[in-house]
Amino acid sequence: MKGTFPVTKFRKLETPFYYYDVNVLRETLSCINKEAGKYNNFCVHYAIKANANHKILTIIRESGLGADCVSGGEIRAAIKAGFPANKIVYAGVGKTDREINLGLDYDIFCFNVESVPELEIINELAAAKGKTARVAFRINPNVGAHTHANITTGLAENKFGISMEDMDKVIDMAETLAHVKFVGLHFHIGSQILDMGDFVALCNRINELQEKLYARQIIVEHINVGGGLGIDYTHPNRQAIPNFAEYFATYHKHLKLRPQQTLHFELGRAVVGQCGSLISKVIYIKQGTNKQFAILDAGMTDLIRPALYQAYHKIENITSEEPIETYDVVGPICESSDVFGKAIDLNKAHRGDLFALRSAGAYGEIMASAYNCRALPEGYTSEELA
Ligand code: LLP
Repeated sequence: MKGTFPVTKFRKLETPFYYYDVNVLRETLSCINKEAGKYNNFCVHYAIKANANHKILTIIRESGLGADCVSGGEIRAAIKAGFPANKIVYAGVGKTDREINLGLDYDIFCFNVESVPELEIINELAAAKGKTARVAFRINPNVGAHTHANITTGLAENKFGISMEDMDKVIDMAETLAHVKFVGLHFHIGSQILDMGDFVALCNRINELQEKLYARQIIVEHINVGGGLGIDYTHPNRQAIPNFAEYFATYHKHLKLRPQQTLHFELGRAVVGQCGSLISKVIYIKQGTNKQFAILDAGMTDLIRPALYQAYHKIENITSEEPIETYDVVGPICESSDVFGKAIDLNKAHRGDLFALRSAGAYGEIMASAYNCRALPEGYTSEELA
């Protein structure tokens, strides 16, 4: 089954562009609020890195989610879209002084600290402003996730976080610093995770760590388990909304929270992935020796995930109902990895046809580049085109 698209409207627009179905986005958000809302101590942040399009951010902010940022630029984008500063968390291994100062100036909810030197600098910069920064420690739980090697983050060999062995030392240190307040623990094991067992493994590890802290009479205000819930790239229509019920229930069942503790989430892909498609025009159909190529006006500069992670995005010819033929679907960039899919069955394609690359709402538009001096793709919502 193909997606439904306003093709006549598309014909009037310059391709390639991102198209966001805001009905899908709103349904996803209300499902998140309904399912997380079953537990009175769950608090969901949207991971801005997945998509920082202002129109999308505004809709997400209206739904009440907080914001998870990884740079000063993302903090600014969140503020501009109206996210309240006390719902902004800020992570990242290499926060610069300028970025930390920005977070301090806005009095953001929490800095997720990833190293000892960073903790010292936050303390120093907060002192200079006469402020106290709220900090959580990002602990590397050494839990693997069944996903692509480039997007697992929770293994000991990754650059992220503070090792479990160093946790006590860092907490001791925080207690000696007057301008930081230790309020939480932060984790994130990877992205595009569909096996709930991976999240259970994280819960078990957090339970162990909480026991250790409890023995020291430490109870943090909040636990942040990061994001990572995956989406169904193969069947974007069959499962447009990820299984949030199962996801939140998994944490509710397996994570032992202390009374008063809140549980924070930072979901990116699961929020915006399925609402977006990259719409592109066929420039040429080229016959190769043993195959035919559909050459698009979109390339890896518009959607880099297939080239970078061998990621699969379902491709549809949304302007043809002719019998199926097989194509290698490629972009115009001077790189042999500029391929969206090989041996893809599509309705027979002609020059000028429009293709949709589905499930591209997350890590699509935001990862676009200007390589080959190309223009960055526009992003339109279904409401704008209605
Ligand atoms: N929190 C932290 C600390 C993260 O590092 C990430 C993603 C998230 C939350 C959001 O994860 P999500 O819910 O979206 O899985 N560009 C890659 C994905 C990189 C993810 C980086 N971290 C891709 O296109 O697959």
